[in-house]
Amino acid sequence: MSAPLRLGVNIDHVATIRNARGGEHPDPVKAALLAVKAGAHGITAHLREDRRHIRDEDIAMLMAALDVPLNLEMAATQEMLDIALRHKPHAACIVPEKREERTTEGGLDAAGQIDVLRPVVAKLNDADIRVSLFIEADATQIAAAVELGAPVVELHTGAYAHLEGAARAAELRRIADAAALAAKNGIEPHAGHGLTFDNVAPIAAIPQVAELNIGHFLIGEAIFGGLEASIREMRRQMDLAR
Ligand code: PXP
Repeated sequence: MSAPLRLGVNIDHVATIRNARGGEHPDPVKAALLAVKAGAHGITAHLREDRRHIRDEDIAMLMAALDVPLNLEMAATQEMLDIALRHKPHAACIVPEKREERTTEGGLDAAGQIDVLRPVVAKLNDADIRVSLFIEADATQIAAAVELGAPVVELHTGAYAHLEGAARAAELRRIADAAALAAKNGIEPHAGHGLTFDNVAPIAAIPQVAELNIGHFLIGEAIFGGLEASIREMRRQMDLAR
């Protein structure tokens, strides 16, 4: 039996829908509490430079409401470091961020940015915030994580999720090898990006992987799990009023 696999639910896209109207609904905190009730071990949220998902005030509200770990995804900038040090989430996952991208595209080039990352990782480590580096499944990037003293790496599963057939199988092997290498070096491997009901099982079966972070698919799938109930309730209230 492998060790238990934790699930971190990323609630960014609840915030995206809320932000489309600028009000309070749907509330990411309410979604986070529902995720915990359903079996999530932690909540993940990405404070982007452009605040297109969660906003600064969401972090304080999530921290106050949750009794499970909050994993704050952040770019390695002074602004985000200051925010993380102020709120002290359980974990901070350092991701690459480009303003024009639709979602995080590709892993962090930790090996190419050691000097930029070193003080950020050190300050987060000093504040007892568990640092994770969101990297490609690559031995060079894991060596950089070791050099930086990051206790966790999150292996990018985006390419795996989008490939098919032999190419997907090769990417899966790369992720499994990277997870084993990370664990051998005392780093806890996590994985995430693009995971769905159809592609999660082979990643979940990698024995060293301790946590998966999943967002977009779960929020999208919730439409199909919940749209019928919300329309029926509206229909009921309309009928009651007549
Ligand atoms: N892990 C990291 C580091 C991410 O940046 C994201 C996307 O925000 C995820 C996991 C979740 O990816 P998805 O929304 O595709 O499930």
